[in-house]
Amino acid sequence: MRILVTGGCGYKGHILVPKLLKRGYEVVVYDTQWFGNFFEEHPKLQLIKGDVRQIKDIPLDGVDCIIHLASIANDPCGDLDPKLTWEVSALATMQLAEKAKRLGVERFIYASSGSVYGVKEEEQVTEDLELEPISEYNKTKMVAERVALSYSNDMIVQIVRPGTVCGYSPRMRLDVAVNMLVMQALSKGKITVFGGAQTRPNIHIDDITDVYLHLIDHPEHMGIFNAGFENISILDIARLITKYVPVEIVVTQSNDPRCYRVNSDKLLATGFKPKKIVENAIQEIISQFRAGICKDEEHFYNLKWMQQTVLSKRTCLKGAAV
Ligand SMILES: NC(=O)c1ccc[n+]([C@@H]2O[C@H](COP(=O)([O-])OP(=O)(O)OC[C@H]3O[C@@H](n4cnc5c(N)ncnc54)[C@H](O)[C@@H]3O)[C@@H](O)[C@H]2O)c1
Repeated sequence: MRILVTGGCGYKGHILVPKLLKRGYEVVVYDTQWFGNFFEEHPKLQLIKGDVRQIKDIPLDGVDCIIHLASIANDPCGDLDPKLTWEVSALATMQLAEKAKRLGVERFIYASSGSVYGVKEEEQVTEDLELEPISEYNKTKMVAERVALSYSNDMIVQIVRPGTVCGYSPRMRLDVAVNMLVMQALSKGKITVFGGAQTRPNIHIDDITDVYLHLIDHPEHMGIFNAGFENISILDIARLITKYVPVEIVVTQSNDPRCYRVNSDKLLATGFKPKKIVENAIQEIISQFRAGICKDEEHFYNLKWMQQTVLSKRTCLKGAAV
């Protein structure tokens, strides 16, 4: 099988792509490489530095399956330049699906987000609930989902709505809850939580990448799947971290109201079994940090890095690949 992974140089991509290669698939990674590229050469891996908005440049010949990860990947980054966010996350998704249909690509797996639900009172947030996206990021994900689903008669469309992903990746993200708090404890000697009461769904990076493999193995399961197995408050995450790194927890005011729990029974009913928990992610990041492998580096914070690099190169953003 030949698989195109857009955004494959990202946090998830750096765990997913080696798993795809291990299975013997041919993998084409198409990514602007805004946060770097930490892949080693592999005979079945083709790395292309390119922008999904340049739809003509995306090589789909011989591609059986697209795993579409590329997007401006969180709320604050999405707000930096809404036009860019809509072009990358929504418009390019439509153009990619359209091109995939014309070229006969059979499978389209889309990385949406559990944040499309917005603030929900329901104890069990299931896939059939109304979406109330708050940020530009959430809105683009909601629209891109609909666009992808409109191609369901042309190809197998599978959409994943993950919780917040946690755990170590060579392209680390230190702006996602668990990872950020662990790094605070390790490098600052204290953990600061905003509010702390917000409950959010979490999923280990090994599990979310296994979800994509599971969907590849099960084309009969089409549609939308939540993927978040631990709904925990930020404060409880902080407390869990202090089991391993005993530091002070400082609680401050929060202006982020998002509080949601997802129910992933639909995914579990397809036979998917998560193997890890948040505590594993905490332990793994700590051990990678102590081994000098996981470092507190600026390009691991999407917002800061986009402001300093990607968005300061305005001319590049208007043109071709950055
Ligand atoms: N990490 C999470 O907690 C999480 C949770 C829910 C959903 N998601 C979604 O999963 C996907 C992957 O997330 P991630 O954590 O790996 O994010 P990431 O920011 O690490 O990776 C995104 C990748 O997309 C690339 N990219 C951005 N714009 C591009 C463009 N125009 N053309 C080509 N490549 C482009 C970036 O260079 C980056 O390598 C994203 O769509 C994200 O919204 C992530």
